[in-house]
Amino acid sequence: MKLIFEKSRAGRRAARLPQPANLAPAPELPAALRRADPPRLPELPENEIVRHFTELTTRNFGIDTGFYPLGSCTMKYNPRVNERVAALPGFRDLHPHQEDEASQGALELMHDLQEMLAEITALDAVSLQPAAGSQGELTGLMLMRAFFADRGEGDRRRKVVVADTAHGTNPASVTMAGYELVKVETDPRGNIDLDDLRTKVDEETAGLMLTNPSTLGLFDEHIEEIARMFHEVGSLLYYDGANLNAVCGISRPGDMGFDIVHINLHKTFSQPHGGGGPGGGPIAVRRQLEPYLPVPAVVRDGKRFRLDYDRPKSIGKVRAFTGPFGVFVRSYAFILAWGRELKTMSEHAVLNANYLLARLKGVYELPFDRLCMHEFVLSARGLKREHGITALDVAKRLMDYGFHPPTIYFPLIVPEALMIEPTETETKETLDAFADAMLAIAREAAEQPELLKEAPHGRSVQRLDEVKAARRAVVRYRFGDHPDPAAEPSAPAPAEAPKGV
Ligand SMILES: Cc1ncc(COP(=O)(O)O)c(C=O)c1O
Repeated sequence: MKLIFEKSRAGRRAARLPQPANLAPAPELPAALRRADPPRLPELPENEIVRHFTELTTRNFGIDTGFYPLGSCTMKYNPRVNERVAALPGFRDLHPHQEDEASQGALELMHDLQEMLAEITALDAVSLQPAAGSQGELTGLMLMRAFFADRGEGDRRRKVVVADTAHGTNPASVTMAGYELVKVETDPRGNIDLDDLRTKVDEETAGLMLTNPSTLGLFDEHIEEIARMFHEVGSLLYYDGANLNAVCGISRPGDMGFDIVHINLHKTFSQPHGGGGPGGGPIAVRRQLEPYLPVPAVVRDGKRFRLDYDRPKSIGKVRAFTGPFGVFVRSYAFILAWGRELKTMSEHAVLNANYLLARLKGVYELPFDRLCMHEFVLSARGLKREHGITALDVAKRLMDYGFHPPTIYFPLIVPEALMIEPTETETKETLDAFADAMLAIAREAAEQPELLKEAPHGRSVQRLDEVKAARRAVVRYRFGDHPDPAAEPSAPAPAEAPKGV
């Protein structure tokens, strides 16, 4: 497919605007600030623009296109009604600088959402400000620092313990927050290894960062003992709430002993996401940490709501205004729609994952053989050993069957990992079709391994050089490297290969 610049021809236009007779004179700009040449914008008729972008959309895969079992990412279907609610003019057109008196509805929604999240996490105070889980992590660790600094323990408490199954953002956040990272290992049942942990928790520990259920999809069987161990030495427990979809209304991080939690609104509630955004990563904390939360806080005075900046111990702002408001509206609508049945959502997510696990575990290896929560991790190491087929080959072949591949090679402690998260929104027929495809691929691995090595066969691109793409990404069209086809209309353009070739 050509770039839109390559389709451009000089003088082609989508629309011509009438020039008003009394056009105001161009503003006087200093010559040094004026551009010497007009920008090289693509010139195309409207139908070609529509076709170009429509063609691009057909090369994408999303939850609206098909099953998307990307482990850890919780790619669930987002009900359309939430889009309608977020697009109500009172929400959509609200200016972030609107005064409190004229934004009572929006402030009330944010205040209610804070209370709902406090209830779901069993904690006392919430800030909606962080824009993603990872930003919530950094915010939570900044709260930890502010808390210990205030108690005169900032210099002593330098270490944060992170499980070896952790999502990559956890160690990154620890380092960004200026802490020393201490890694703790996983035991043969997929829990934190308590013996290893005991050697790593002391008076210098600021806290633990853990997701429960873990990225293995397993609920830690010793969570209460772990919480006790950290609290006994005065440390705090941080809950990476990215896996909250497994436990809503069933178990609560505050009850497990956690002091700080981030919630990925886009994963647990409702928000179309993927490829890094857009999301929301609110932070919930115990009362003792509330003074440090970002400003402004959304507070209630009787029947009125307002933004409160008067928080002298606050860590400050972590994002513009009050956070990603559209995400709040969708999540609020989603939680209200489930109401007291929110628990059913998590139960179905867990049931769907266990159903798929039961269908696949005889054929793919299961490193930690337990009932799973909302996701599970298989290993393709048996296929690799016997047929030279890797997790990557399985993932690429799944695309030929019309499915988005699961997460692969994560968590790092599982060789040839295939991390599958079906979510609660899929039907049994879809789960069966996916399981059938996985089983068929395992048979193909034995009978026609070359089919998998060259997969995908039916997509617009086959295997990409992912290392080169990551290390030498070309994200900019450099005009200097390309002749301007618009300036050379006589040169016949080469015929374009049809999609799929
Ligand atoms: C376990 C876990 N922690 C943290 C994150 C980071 O969240 P975000 O992508 O919103 O920054 C993710 C994202 O998938 C995750 O799965």
